This record gives sequence, C-alpha cells and structure tokens, in this order.
Amino acid sequence: MSESLATRLVDWQRQYGRHDLPWQRDRTPYRVWLSEIMLQQTQVQTVIGYFERFVARFTNVHALAKADLDEVLHLWTGLGYYSRARNLHAAAKQVVAEHDGELPREQEALVSLPGVGRSTAAAILALAYEQPAAILDGNVKRVFARVHAEPGWPGETKVLKRLWAHAEAHLPETEVRTYTQALMDLGATVCTRRNPACEQCPLADRCEACAAGTQHLYPAPRPRRSLPERRTRFLIAEDERGRLMLERRPPQGIWGGLWCFPEIPPEQAPADYLQMLGLESRGPVETLAGLTHGFTHFRLHIEPLRIPVKARNCQVREQEDRHWYSAGDSTRIGVSAPVAKLLKSLLRD
Ligand code: ADE
Repeated sequence: MSESLATRLVDWQRQYGRHDLPWQRDRTPYRVWLSEIMLQQTQVQTVIGYFERFVARFTNVHALAKADLDEVLHLWTGLGYYSRARNLHAAAKQVVAEHDGELPREQEALVSLPGVGRSTAAAILALAYEQPAAILDGNVKRVFARVHAEPGWPGETKVLKRLWAHAEAHLPETEVRTYTQALMDLGATVCTRRNPACEQCPLADRCEACAAGTQHLYPAPRPRRSLPERRTRFLIAEDERGRLMLERRPPQGIWGGLWCFPEIPPEQAPADYLQMLGLESRGPVETLAGLTHGFTHFRLHIEPLRIPVKARNCQVREQEDRHWYSAGDSTRIGVSAPVAKLLKSLLRD
C-alpha cells in the first residue's frame, strides 16, 4: 500500500514547510488563536508585524479581555476587516467569564466564540492542542479540490460538503499539528492559485487534477450569473452644423438625470419617432457600429442610428430637457458611458 496523503504531507512539512513563524514560537493557545484570526483574510507577511505588536501589548487572554476596545482596534489599524478585532475582544471576555481564561479544548465550545468558525476552531485544536480536527480554509479547499478533481465552486453548499468530507477522510490520528501546518504551507507556497508548482508537490502523483494537467481549473470560480440581454436604439439626430441632440432622462430608472440620445421605442419606426420629436429628416438613416453596456442586472445592446435633420425646425422645439451638443461644447452635463463614447467618436473631427 502506498503511503497515506498525511504521511507525505508530514514528511514534506519537516523538510520544506515553514518553521519560524512568530506564532510557532512559544506556542500558547492564545497566540495560536490570535494568529489564526489575523490570518483569516490576510497574508502571512502582513500579519507578522501586527501579531508581534499585539502580543507585546496584550500578552494573554486576561490582558485582552480587560483592554479598551479602542486600543484593540488601534493595534488592528491597517489590517482590515475590523469585525475580527471586535469579535476577538468579545471572545476574550467570554473565555475569561466562561472558561476561566483558558481557551476551550472542544470544537463546540470554540465555535461558540465570536469570530471562530469550524475551520478556525479545528486549527486551534490541531496546532495548539495536537487534537485531530480537520481544517478547511481557502488554501486547503484548493488543495483538496485539485487532489480529488472536485468540480464546482466551493461557495456552493454541496461542493463545500464534499471538500469537508475529503478533509475529514485524510485527517491522521497522529502528528496532527505538523499535518495541519503542512496543508496550510502547501496551499500557500506550492499549490498556489496561479501557477502551482506541481513538480515540487509531494502529492503530485496522487493528484487527479495534476494527472490530467487541469490543476488550473480547480477550484472552479464563482459562476458568473448570465445576465438578461436587452436591446435599444439610440436616435442620433444631427443638424447641418454637426450638432447632436441630447435629452435629459427622467430622474428614475437607468441613467436617471443623465443626458442621453433619445431612445426609439421598440415598436416605432425611426422616421415616425423623429416626427414625434418635431424633427424633420434631411437624409437617409445610417446605422452605426453597435455598443454593449453592462449593468449589474442586465446587458444592454445599443444600436445607434444617425439621422441628419433640419436645423431650422429644431430651434422651435428647443426646451429645457433638450440640448444640441457640438464639438468643443463647454456645457457641463452628465452623460452615460455609451453616450460619452458616441459623442467622442462622432464629434472627433
Ligand atoms: N494561514 C492560516 N493559518 C496559518 C498558519 N498557522 N500558518 C501559516 N499560514 C496560515
């Protein structure tokens, strides 16, 4: 039988893993917990300095529980995700009040602390107490997704469940600390998101994705919602002097209050709409190159129709919500992105 995945990882960690991170020295449960919270959304290199300053000021859970939240937040300044600091402070008070100042050794008690989820609790158990508990942070999800060529985006419950099952299945009973650190280090240094170094990976010959050369496909990214498509036609009325007619849009709806080319209603012929606007054509309609504009909830395909119109009639209908825009116009008006693009290309010369 070939070596277990855990054995491979433990051997690899001894030789190639990280051994001198500040939270690996003087390894108290408090320091492990603090480091895991800081490392939740932040890279190791950034965390190191913050961790050192934090433990220098608050040496243990008691000191942290007694601290002023303002001072805790001050030490967190620049690290981001400040709810972590608020949760940490609240959790320290809870540990003092309910656990006599000792960080619990049970998964259930740990996850009841603010800011401690399943994976963080497991990391504390494994790293601080050498208790078998499976972790599954972002890096580790990637490792297992590749090893087992697990399809789907890990943000989806069913995918996450399968990844947890792999994490639990590979968890060894001994050397849990080294194994856990190995998973973290492998994910951070070898099985990286971009350009993973499979040739240096102790799991390469056990990795389904690597065998198929598809490591870059795992884990699958968050699916892009396919957005509904809409179409519209812009009426670009141009008078003899090269001025283009803009209308102010109603305050509600897309591009509310911005200036835009009039939109031709779907059922209407451009000539009829032109007439409705009180304009008189003086030449054929020209269809310009289409534009696509992405909104949060739909994609808009724009067909711009350029129509030469007679200027003399235009003046009659001039009104507050209508503006004839010309090259070098210094009127300070807000226009939507596709209109800005069209104005630029049409008034270039
Ligand atoms: N990322 C999360 N926890 C970590 C740890 N203990 N060491 C290195 N990177 C980590």
